Amino acid sequence: MLDREKIPAHIAIIMDGNGRWAKAKGVPRVAGHNAGMMAMKEIVKASSQLGVKYLTVYAFSTENWKRSAEEVGGIFKLVVKYVNSELAELHENNVRVKILGDYTQVPKAAVDSLEKSLETTKDNTGLQFNIALNYGSRAEIVRAVNLIEKDRKTGVLDPDMEITEELISRYLYTGVENGNIPDPDLIIRTSGEERLSNFLLWQSAYSEFGFTDVLWPDFTPAEFERMIEAYQNRERRFGGRK
Ligand code: IPE
Ligand code: IPE
Ligand code: MG
Repeated sequence: MLDREKIPAHIAIIMDGNGRWAKAKGVPRVAGHNAGMMAMKEIVKASSQLGVKYLTVYAFSTENWKRSAEEVGGIFKLVVKYVNSELAELHENNVRVKILGDYTQVPKAAVDSLEKSLETTKDNTGLQFNIALNYGSRAEIVRAVNLIEKDRKTGVLDPDMEITEELISRYLYTGVENGNIPDPDLIIRTSGEERLSNFLLWQSAYSEFGFTDVLWPDFTPAEFERMIEAYQNRERRFGGRK
């Protein structure tokens, strides 16, 4: 049974398998992404209801630009569609939307609707829903180092200040600019693939992993709860001894 008193504070999901789902159905890849978006809607709602504090989804990686213009364009059209159809309900449910990644580089219509969602929900105090979009963890770390360097040169930081883990964490997308998101307790990846694909490399140092063969469009709140339950049965030691 799921222990509702021990819901992980931060769950991150690599939503994978939309393409294979579409292939199996004989429909275009973008139809797979559309089905994936519907699955995501349900997981956001379930997270709110379960009392998850932070849900982070990997929606588009810095490497996903390698895909066809048709697929990439279709994904960003879906971002606009998602925000337009869901923003009112997200806001009603007190969800705070944040974007991790350089989202200013995505098509303008998507940037506009994302900014609207950030602005509308910024003071909400329920679930924080982080969308990793044009996100890559190596780019994130390089960016943090460059920002630190800049702040040392301009005096925002003391130039003699020692660089610490805490300082680097603060300059990541998950740092100060998005409310100092705690490291993910549980990282889920669907579709049977078992790798990070440049997601949260720094933040996942002590995360638990949950893998399932279910393709993302078929992922349901029931499967989500099963994976949380499996997580609850693990012992986290963080290098120490129990
Ligand atoms: C994940 O599904 C969604 C994105 C990467 C945008 P995929 O599109 O990677 O699906 P598969 O891996 O080809 O099945
Ligand atoms: C990771 O999935 C990125 C997202 C889910 C957005 P990919 O399908 O792009 O990853 P690889 O290429 O299989 O590692
Ligand atoms: Mg994939």
